[in-house]
Amino acid sequence: MKTEILKKCDEAELAFAAKLIQEGKLVAFPTETVYGLGGNALRSDAAKRIYEAKGRPSDNPLIIHLACAEDASKYCEPNEVFYRLADAFMPGPLTVILPKKECIPDSVTGGLDTVAVRVPSHPIAHALIAKAGVPIAAPSANISGKPSTTTAAHVITDLDGKVDAILAADDCEIGLESTIVKIHTDGTLTVLRPGAITCEMLSDIVGSTVNIDPAVLAKSEARPLAPGMKYRHYAPHMPVIILDGADDAFYDYVNQKDDCGVLCFEEDLAHITAKKVLSLGKASQAQEQAHRLFACLREMDAQNDLACVYARMPQKSEVGLAVWNRLAKAAGFEVIKLEDK
Ligand code: TXA
Ligand code: MG
Repeated sequence: MKTEILKKCDEAELAFAAKLIQEGKLVAFPTETVYGLGGNALRSDAAKRIYEAKGRPSDNPLIIHLACAEDASKYCEPNEVFYRLADAFMPGPLTVILPKKECIPDSVTGGLDTVAVRVPSHPIAHALIAKAGVPIAAPSANISGKPSTTTAAHVITDLDGKVDAILAADDCEIGLESTIVKIHTDGTLTVLRPGAITCEMLSDIVGSTVNIDPAVLAKSEARPLAPGMKYRHYAPHMPVIILDGADDAFYDYVNQKDDCGVLCFEEDLAHITAKKVLSLGKASQAQEQAHRLFACLREMDAQNDLACVYARMPQKSEVGLAVWNRLAKAAGFEVIKLEDK
């Protein structure tokens, strides 16, 4: 398939891309979180093509992207808590799971009776959805199992020849996918996937503590509430192992290995002698780490002479929880606890 690479992302290119969506074709587009692989969410043939292009199992449902939160009631059954969250965080990096209406095909939701709804804030995403006049079903624009794409170049690497067009814009600002929440009948929330909208921010709005699905924090036998969280994800071709320990213990450990890559923080760079060392940003700057994580994992994946990648444990609080979760998934939740010296 010939993929049109649309680099101007002007009115004319957006109109062209919106028409492709209306026709059931596939367009990759930027959002503030990661790039999305979009298709018309009202057409099951478009959903089927999305699963094929990504190589994604069809039991892993898609998020539908809307131009505004008011449109949600056309496609699902929003409640009072949804509107409070929408007032606070939409448009933005939040996805809410709600009971679906008939018009959303089962192929979009993997047969579930709920649908995931998000209103992206990126102007190109917004314009594409508004011009198409239909909700856009869009998983992250990567080959299934690989890190999500945060740059146009990475989208082209994964999807050239597999989609009809790519809106090739700037790098995504946030760099990790949206926070996903489920609203329970009593109005409480469970976070199914952490992101830039933190548990603390959600809790401030709903006025109660927010639960975290156990699948976010550890490899669990229980079925995760978001089907996608059960798959190994984000992984380069070599194993990733997280090291949890103080500075000296970390440096000693990685400096004894000569065939490994190291993902660390900026402050660590001067202390590490490994073959391939990448910094995620400052240790205290989770947003910077979020922005860089997937590009770093892809850069490690491109190395052919590394036996494994050791990653330094990020702080697990606030946005750091999302950084930790994606890294832990890349590592299959494998963490080595280093002894203090
Ligand atoms: O930031 C994002 O959310 C990006 C951009 C493109 O918007 N999209 C994204 O989509 O990350 P995807 O398909 O890669 O991840 C969607 C996740 C999966 O883990 C899926 O299982 C979960 O959302 N999900 C979708 N619908 C669901 C539902 N009805 N119930 C529970 N989980 C659901
Ligand atoms: Mg994804």
